[in-house]
Amino acid sequence: MRNFLLVANAAREHAIAKAILKTKNVRLFCFANALNPAIKELCLKSGGEYKIGNIEDGVAIAEWAVEKNIDLAFPSPDAVLAAGVVDELEKNKILCAAPTKKAAKIEWDKNFLRSLMSKYSIKGYPKFKHFFSEEQIDDFIDSLGGSVAIKPCGLTGGKGVKVVGFQLKDAAEAKNYAREVLKDKIGGELGVLVEEKLEGEEFSLMAFTDSNTVIGMPMVQDHKRAYEGDLGPNTGGMGSYSHSSFVLPFLKKSDYIQAMEILKKIIEALKKESIEYKGIIYGGFIATKNGVYCIETNSRFGDPEVMNVLAVLKTPLFEILDSIATKTLSRKKISWEKKATVVKYLVPKGYPQKAIDPSPITIDWNKLKEVELFFGSVEEKNGVLYTSKSRAIALLAKAETIEQASQKIENSISSIQGPLWYRKDIGSKELLEKRFQHMKEIRKK
Ligand code: AMP
Ligand code: GLY
Repeated sequence: MRNFLLVANAAREHAIAKAILKTKNVRLFCFANALNPAIKELCLKSGGEYKIGNIEDGVAIAEWAVEKNIDLAFPSPDAVLAAGVVDELEKNKILCAAPTKKAAKIEWDKNFLRSLMSKYSIKGYPKFKHFFSEEQIDDFIDSLGGSVAIKPCGLTGGKGVKVVGFQLKDAAEAKNYAREVLKDKIGGELGVLVEEKLEGEEFSLMAFTDSNTVIGMPMVQDHKRAYEGDLGPNTGGMGSYSHSSFVLPFLKKSDYIQAMEILKKIIEALKKESIEYKGIIYGGFIATKNGVYCIETNSRFGDPEVMNVLAVLKTPLFEILDSIATKTLSRKKISWEKKATVVKYLVPKGYPQKAIDPSPITIDWNKLKEVELFFGSVEEKNGVLYTSKSRAIALLAKAETIEQASQKIENSISSIQGPLWYRKDIGSKELLEKRFQHMKEIRKK
């Protein structure tokens, strides 16, 4: 038997837990900050345990890992990695398939990534400047014609970046927001980045790496905006899709190749800085008229993107993570099913501004034949499931085409009842057509 430790308990971790247990003889242990009834059930069924505590407390997690004879650990979310949980586990000789605090800096300090790309001349970053004080911010914004993105450098749960033309009306609002980030220490005390605004189609590309070998996954497109037609405030991600060919239908193979090159060069640059990066590297990219740019990097699986990629991963995830931890990824052959996937999140009414108070959800499991379900932010009391503050339930479907997968979710959605809503348009023919047209216009410019 091998004992596997997963840290955290959102829908992303539910998907990881399920994929890990496809390998026989694995016992699943989960250190969580709240109850996820589905992950708990998987742990107990496999002979493992589910423990609730502070998931950023590396010392407590390492203590538990030693006590439970953990063979391989996977601390999953950004805040956990930024808190140095991997460092504590490794200090206690527990093998990890995730980055140390120093390596995870590519996510928790946006200026670190930009400086690294600039120092090693890695093509694919916008014009940028980092500020600790407000002097010269206005000049720099003006020098970019007021077309900018303002980014708190530290972690903000994906909700801190504001872009002119979306969350910011004009250059004046951008200047004010940059000052607010500094004054209110949004994202901590790491300062603010001002970047040239880029235009194009965004996509996520994740890769497995043991710092020597980097193996890409299928491209995914997430939908961050809350409402249909890509309107409204940003969310953690309302849903996502991937195409059977690895490359999204409105993008090109060369976009995939350029994005992979950037990820590989970042890993190489880290090595030159004596930083070994092991785990998942996630690039948020944008395909523009001048090629692919890297908007951000994350040090973990994306949520919802993880559900798309694990649905088509044929090689057992446990084996891949084991080869990352032991730095033998080059010997691993990773294979994928050639299918399209769609994920849609059901979120509580009021999300993302202020979710309603916990309300009951019912699920007709008999009707959920064509889709897979993952529990996100839900609570269970006396056998009844309730909504909580964030994205509640993710539905995943796999099919020959994105539209067919999306339709399977539509056919199943009524099996979940409660005060929930979702974006019907993700994966629809109309939305995909809009993406095609957008990319056509961008490339013509
Ligand atoms: P991030 O948290 O860095 O992923 O940024 C959140 C969102 O802000 C991205 O998904 C983009 O939509 C947008 N964004 C970030 N940087 C830029 C940029 N330089 N130009 C245009 N949009 C951006
Ligand atoms: N889906 C975006 C993220 O996980 O950061």
